[in-house]
Amino acid sequence: MNALLSLLAVGVLIGLAALASGAGLGFVFAVVLPYLAILLFLGGFIAKIVGWAKSPVPFRIPTVSGQQKALDWIPQNKLESPVTGFQVFVRMALEVLFFRSLFRNTRAELREGPRLVYAADKFLWLFALLFHWSFLVIFIRHLRFFTEPVPFFVTALESLDGFFEVGIPFLFLTDLAILAALAFLLGRRFANPQVRYISLFADYFPLFLILGIVVTGVLMRHFAKVDIHAVKALGVSLLSLSPAVPAGLGALFFIHLFLVTTLIAYFPWSKLMHLGGVFMSPTRNLANNNRTVRHVNPWNPDVKPHSFDAWKEEFKDEIAQAGYKLERD
Ligand code: HEM
Repeated sequence: MNALLSLLAVGVLIGLAALASGAGLGFVFAVVLPYLAILLFLGGFIAKIVGWAKSPVPFRIPTVSGQQKALDWIPQNKLESPVTGFQVFVRMALEVLFFRSLFRNTRAELREGPRLVYAADKFLWLFALLFHWSFLVIFIRHLRFFTEPVPFFVTALESLDGFFEVGIPFLFLTDLAILAALAFLLGRRFANPQVRYISLFADYFPLFLILGIVVTGVLMRHFAKVDIHAVKALGVSLLSLSPAVPAGLGALFFIHLFLVTTLIAYFPWSKLMHLGGVFMSPTRNLANNNRTVRHVNPWNPDVKPHSFDAWKEEFKDEIAQAGYKLERD
């Protein structure tokens, strides 16, 4: 049901954009909505990060899986239990670039007996990595629509991505990779009963939305050609804040752009914010230096020490009056 609803939502978005392109709403869909989406994105992204940055983190709670720094003769596992800022940086970089913790992902299955069996599950890691890297490369390649002259690294990335020179225009490896990855990520939610049970609208919607963006992009490149000069004129005008909508953009382009606009506006309010959240996660960005630094919980009440001698001094008259003899006199 959640999958159907999100598919329907993407269908409605596609329908709206198709209608708008025929109804002379080009300026709204190519200029007003993309600008609004970017404002929403920036506002939402910053608000989320500031909110997380302001949350108190009174304890050191890094998730570790190795020997922490202790006595000199006990070898510390610098990667799994980082103690310095640099070690945290290296662990974070490996997490962000290669999804190290997802590599350890396991699958639980109930076999005959009944017996609960855990097995390694590297496919999720592999396809998640393929998806994110392909998305990044596609995103960087798209800079050619917004820049004149096109930066050298965009052209270099484009030749590398089209290295096999299959078809005209060349087929990009990242297009194939992202389609395969999206198929896997969606298929996993359908095929695995446990994952299906916990999958919400918000899990399917971004997948279908991105699938819509990729499919319309591939269609534009290989099947229903668009006027790239017109697209570039729009892109450059948008980036230079002097928007102008050229003629000849076509319905497919408006659909592609509207789905992208939706993705941008939706981003900060969705689970996609893990892009920023991973850096703000105290289980990842804190050093495990509990044995080398004394951490005091700032929420602790300010308890003033009251020594025995100070107490004795305070009550010495009462003690004498009562005739008590204290042991430590
Ligand atoms: C999240 C952002 C976006 C994603 C993931 C995306 C994805 C894609 C993909 C996968 C393709 C297929 C060909 C290729 O890989 O280059 C494509 C093509 C295309 N995209 Fe996008 N796109 C995005 C944003 C945009 C924007 C903002 C524009 C408008 C300026 C745009 C305009 C186009 C055009 C004109 C093509 C056809 C390219 C060609 O014929 O070579 N895309 N897009």
